[in-house]
Order: sequence, then structure tokens, then C-alpha cells
Amino acid sequence: MPLITLHFTPALLLLVLTCAQVSQSMPVMSKGPLKESCVLYAKTLLQSINDTLAKIKERDCNVELNMATNTTSACAPKESKCSGIVKSEFDQESCLTNIGEDLHHYHEFLAARTDDQRSQASNVLSRIRELMENCFSWSLPIDVSKGAASQDENPFDRRLKFCKVLTGFQVRCITINRAIAYMNSGEHTK
Ligand SMILES: *[C@@H]1O[C@H](CO)[C@@H](O)[C@H](O)[C@H]1NC(C)=O
Ligand SMILES: *[C@@H]1O[C@H](CO)[C@@H](O)[C@H](O)[C@H]1NC(C)=O
Repeated sequence: MPLITLHFTPALLLLVLTCAQVSQSMPVMSKGPLKESCVLYAKTLLQSINDTLAKIKERDCNVELNMATNTTSACAPKESKCSGIVKSEFDQESCLTNIGEDLHHYHEFLAARTDDQRSQASNVLSRIRELMENCFSWSLPIDVSKGAASQDENPFDRRLKFCKVLTGFQVRCITINRAIAYMNSGEHTK
């Protein structure tokens, strides 16, 4: 997955990347308003990322965001301005597909970390699966086959990478929370 390292704070990133583009697709369900429970699952996921970030050692890191998805632009609310263009339609399927790909990407990354980091992220991993299973009608296999990849990094780089990606996930998860709340509100179907 292409990743990019940016030297910005998460808050700034949210503004800068409001219209980020790129990616490939995956099957997804749902047309009508999203269930209320999905709003809670998404919030619980964000909470677990926050809790995990609060516990890790290297906390002062850059943000590495998943650039392989279009979540921010695909999930921008109707009538919002993206790159100066007013979006008149909201494509729920496209938004959900992008969110699904993000969740899949971060699940793979976290599940592939070696023991200590995987156990630090175990709560985040469960929360991702919970959201996927209840709101996206697919379940995620627990794939640890790529764990070896992170063995090559030295301990400092491993911790830094973990911090960067997790901080990127926090930024993305805030966007996901907003999008899910929007799709639950029914505003997008009006
Ligand atoms: C993301 O955007 C690119 C370029 O606009 C498009 O080709 C791709 O299909 C989009 N991906 C998804 C998952 O919507
Ligand atoms: C998680 O942290 C972000 C960034 O500090 C904050 O905006 C958000 O409200 C927090 N969310 C929860 C559910 O704790």
C-alpha cells in the first residue's frame, strides 16, 4: 500500500487532506441510513486508538496516512466544497467502500506487527473487527503471516513506525466517525 509521511499535526492534516484522492475498490453493502450502533462502534474504535496512543513510548512522531483510499473526498457531505467544487451528490457506497478499505488496511498493518505491538493494539484490532462485522457485512481473517516484515526494523524504527501509522489511523478514524454519523443522520438521502 502506498503510504506518505507528512510533517503536519493531525488537525492541520484534516484540513489539508480534505480532498485527497487515489485507490482501488472492494465489495460493500448498504443503501439506507446506517444503523445507530455503527456510530457507537466507530466511536469505540476511535476511543481505543486514543487509549493505545496514550500508552505508547514514541508519541512525538510524524503522521503517516493511508493514501490508497479516497475516504475524505468520497465521504464529504453533500453540498460541501471539495477543491472549490460543490459536491451535489453523496455516494454512500463509495464512501463505505473507502472506509472498508481503510479498516482492512489498518487491520492488516496492526495484525502484522510483532508481539509487543500487536498486544498493545489488540483492543484496536478487536474494535476494527467489530465495526467490520456489524456494519460492513464482512469479517476479517486474523492474518499474522506478514509479521516477519517488521522484524527487519530496529526497535526504535519499529516504535516510530507504529506511532506514525497509528496517529494516521486516528486522523482517518475521526473522518470515519464523521462520515458514519452523517450516514446515520439520513441527511445524505434528502
Ligand atoms: C479513488 O479515486 C480514484 C481516482 O479518482 C479512483 O480511480 C478510484 O476508483 C477511487 N477508489 C475508490 C475505492 O473509490
Ligand atoms: C480521540 O482523540 C481525538 C484527537 O485528540 C479527539 O478529537 C477525539 O475526541 C477523541 N475521541 C474519543 C472518542 O476519545
